[in-house]
Amino acid sequence: MLRAMAIKDLTQVSHHLFLCNGSSCSDRGAAATTVAIRDEIHLCGLHDGLHTTKTLCNGRCDDGPVVIVQPDGVWYRQVTPTIGRRIVREHLRDGVSVDSQVLYQWGDDHLDPAK
Ligand code: FES
Repeated sequence: MLRAMAIKDLTQVSHHLFLCNGSSCSDRGAAATTVAIRDEIHLCGLHDGLHTTKTLCNGRCDDGPVVIVQPDGVWYRQVTPTIGRRIVREHLRDGVSVDSQVLYQWGDDHLDPAK
């Protein structure tokens, strides 16, 4: 039996995305969001600088699908495939967070009640 192996050059990675694929987020379309984010990373030519990991719960199930961008400490809520593509283009390529979907950013002392 062959095992899939990945040997990524971590010295080139600037950001790591944690893509929740737990049960609550999956019920809200996390699989499609994951595919869209990974596809957009390739379309934008950002593969070498970004790493993605599927997680089983990011701790905010009611806000799912939840995507965390590190080391920026930005937690995104309700990430649809369209929003996921925007996160790649606007946050990761252009350096501007998608504010409408930010649930929390490290350093904030509270969550916005509207979120
Ligand atoms: S299942 Fe995604 S945050 Fe809990």
